[in-house]
Amino acid sequence: MDIQFDFTGKKVVIFGGTTGINFGIAEAFAARGAAVVVVSRKRANVDAAIEKLDAYGVPVGGFVADVRDMRSVEEVFESIRAEWGAIDVLISGAAGNFLAEASALSSNGFKVVVDIDLNGTFHVMRAGLDYLAPGASVINITAPQASIPVRYQAHVCAAKAGVDQLTRVLALEWGAKGIRVNAIAPGPIAGTEGMARLTPHDDGAAIESVPLGRLGTKDDVAGLAMFLSSSAARYISGAIIPCDGGGSGESVLQIQEAGRFLAAAAAAQQ
Ligand code: NAP
Ligand code: COA
Repeated sequence: MDIQFDFTGKKVVIFGGTTGINFGIAEAFAARGAAVVVVSRKRANVDAAIEKLDAYGVPVGGFVADVRDMRSVEEVFESIRAEWGAIDVLISGAAGNFLAEASALSSNGFKVVVDIDLNGTFHVMRAGLDYLAPGASVINITAPQASIPVRYQAHVCAAKAGVDQLTRVLALEWGAKGIRVNAIAPGPIAGTEGMARLTPHDDGAAIESVPLGRLGTKDDVAGLAMFLSSSAARYISGAIIPCDGGGSGESVLQIQEAGRFLAAAAAAQQ
C-alpha cells in the first residue's frame, strides 16, 4: 500500500524554502501539482530555486525577504495575494545555526538565531494568517534541540523551543478558524547545511545513532509535510512530529561530539 498525494490547484508558500530540507518540501509539492512560492534572503538562492521548480511545469514564484523584518514579510503576502490568491499550505522553515559555547556567545550571536528562528516564525504566522484559505495547513520546521538540551546549541535550543510552543498556542487559537498548525522536527538529514555545520567531521557516528540505520532524506521530511497538508491529517493540529528515524535523542550525541571536536580544534590553534 502506498499514498499518492495530489495537490493540483493548491497554493503552497515556504519561507526559507530556497535550499535544503525546505526546498525538498517545495519540490515534493510541485511534483504533485501544487503552485509553489519560495522566499528567502538571497536573490541567487531564490532564482536558482525558481529555475529548478519550473521543471515541474506548475506555477512557481519566489520573493526575496528576511523573516526578521516584519514589513518585508507582510509585503511578500501582499504580493502573493495579488498574484496567487489564498494560501492552502504555509510553511515557516528559515533558520540559522552554528556551534558556539554559551559562554563564548555574544548577545548578538544569541539574538540572531532567536530573531531568525523564533521571531521570524512569529512574523510569518502573524502576517500570514489573513492570507490563508479556509482549512489551510500551517507547518513550522523545528528541531530536536527544542526539547533536548544540547551543548553549544543554547541559542538554537531556546529558539526552537519557542517555535514549538508558538505552534501549540496557534493551534489552540486558530482551530476555530479551521486552520491546523503543526511542526516537523527533522532528525539528521543527509546533504544539508544543518548537517554540514553541526557534524562536519564524521557522518558515521550520526548514522549509528539512528535506530533505522540511516540518515534521513529531504524526501522523508517532505512526505510528512505532504501528509500533514492532506485530508488524511484533517484531525491533527498542535502536534510536534519528529521525522528522525527514531533517533533524536541519540543523534544529538553526535552534535555534542562535533562541539567537542571544534573546541579541541580551537584550543589546538591557540
Ligand atoms: P538551509 O539549507 O540553510 O535552509 C535554511 C533556509 O532559510 C535557506 O533557504 C535560507 O536561504 C533561509 N534563511 C535563512 N535565514 C533567513 C532569513 N533571515 N530570512 C529568510 N530566509 C532565511 O538549512 P537546512 O539544514 O536545510 O535546514 C532547514 C530547516 O530544517 C531549518 O529550520 C532547520 O532548523 C531544520 N532542521 C534541519 C536539520 C538538518 O539535519 N539539516 C535537522 C533538524 C532541523 P537564504 O540564505 O537565501 O536566506
Ligand atoms: N560562533 C559564535 N558566534 C557567531 C558565529 C559562530 N560560529 N557565527 C556568527 N556568530 C555571531 C556573530 O559574531 C555576530 O555577533 P557579533 O555582532 O556580536 O559579532 C552574530 O552572530 C550575527 O552574525 P552575522 O554574521 O552578522 O549574522 P547574519 O545575519 O549575517 O547571519 C547566521 C546569520 C549567523 C545565523 C548565519 O550563519 C546564517 O545566515 N545562517 C543561515 C543558514 C544556516 O544556518 N543554515 C542551517 C540551518 S540548521
